[in-house]
Amino acid sequence: MTEYVKIIYGDKTIELPVITGTEGEKAVDISTLRRKTGLITLDPGYTNTGSCLSTITFMDGEKGILRYRGIPVDQLAEHSTFVETAYLLINGALPKRKELETFSGLLNDQSLVHEDMQNFYQNFPRASHPMGILSSMVGAMRSFYPALQIAEEEINITTTRLISKIRTMAAMSYKISRGHKVVYPRPDLSYCANFLNMMFDTPVKPYHIDGDIVRALNVFWILHADHEQNCSTTAVRVVGSGRVNLYASISAGIAALWGPLHGGANQAVIEMLQNMEKNGLSANDVIEKAKGKETSFRLMGFGHRVYKTYDPRAKIIKKMCDKVLSKLNIQDPLLALAKELEEAALKDNYFVEHDLYPNVDFYSGIILRALGIPTNMFTVMFAIGRLPGWIAQWKESMEDPDWKISRPRQVYMGKPERDYKPIDER
Ligand code: ACO
Repeated sequence: MTEYVKIIYGDKTIELPVITGTEGEKAVDISTLRRKTGLITLDPGYTNTGSCLSTITFMDGEKGILRYRGIPVDQLAEHSTFVETAYLLINGALPKRKELETFSGLLNDQSLVHEDMQNFYQNFPRASHPMGILSSMVGAMRSFYPALQIAEEEINITTTRLISKIRTMAAMSYKISRGHKVVYPRPDLSYCANFLNMMFDTPVKPYHIDGDIVRALNVFWILHADHEQNCSTTAVRVVGSGRVNLYASISAGIAALWGPLHGGANQAVIEMLQNMEKNGLSANDVIEKAKGKETSFRLMGFGHRVYKTYDPRAKIIKKMCDKVLSKLNIQDPLLALAKELEEAALKDNYFVEHDLYPNVDFYSGIILRALGIPTNMFTVMFAIGRLPGWIAQWKESMEDPDWKISRPRQVYMGKPERDYKPIDER
């Protein structure tokens, strides 16, 4: 039986239907509100707005739950690989053996990047941020890989092409930034092993592939693979809603992820910890600064729009930090500082009252540093992980029979109508 919400406005009473999700979450469908009352809704930052119905990811911010296609993310982190999880997100079900082989085969076939694209890297100024470069490169892919004629082929090939090439492009950009020879993907290596090899193998020091490190990278990317309607995913859906191609939509998602309040927080966390170390700041110094409203400084890697408890991904990443560092025999002073900061923040009234807990970015940079990834590439690592989620969300929006171009309204607060004045009369 459909539930309704009654709205009384002036002398009118209208009823709006309530939509109930699989896990009992409820939303008022306001799509007829303006037609019936002349009113629109106002919700800056979309803090209380559902933008779509989706079957991909479920989050419960109060309980700290995250599931992809119904499967808890901790189970995927324990048992799955990044490639299998990507298949799950995009296709809706875990692959059978044959399906996984076909998907992996396509990823392998698509792993080379057009040689002409290498020239692009040479022309970016040396100090360019890798996220800006990645966003441009992905946008440029449509010129190198024009649309295929059969719709299904277009989706399958474009999807695997993007997932495979983004990893090659990221490693290539690192090699070129160091003035090193590009290392090509190898067909005998898995997705994650291939990335590490393309990043760190050199003619004078062959890269040793360690199963535990490859596993850690799989887990890192699984944990980043989707997070429902966050800022970058919303960017992908909004840009895609104009029926633009997948490359351009993903390029917009990468640009949105770059910001320090979103994916760029993983870089900002390490910079904050390095600043503490360099200037001998205590955890309390940083916390007091983050609480004060005099500056815009925030405790980076803390807080989340949806999670009002510990981010389930942060729990897994924190545990993984100890494992990876001990495997690589690294003692990172930043890990001790991060733990100190977390402990102090979780005891502080301001953080307790505002429900601020570590998010996915708080500990992830420690792992990336240990793997040898440069700080300015941290958000690129996030983008590679998030790509399957962006693709799944883009695909879902394209297949939605009730699809509409994204076009919010506004309440105009500017000047009322006035006449144009010639320049000498102003
Ligand atoms: N440090 C200090 N205070 C904070 C923090 C923080 N990290 N996060 C939120 N607050 C405070 C705000 O100042 C505000 O306080 P007030 O109500 O007293 O004015 C209150 O908590 C609510 O903050 P909002 O910005 O309204 O919360 P919102 O849901 O819009 O923001 C966000 C969420 C952007 C993640 C925020 O918590 C933040 O800036 N965190 C730091 C950056 C970060 O780690 N981003 C990564 C998020 S995860 C991801 O995107 C991958």
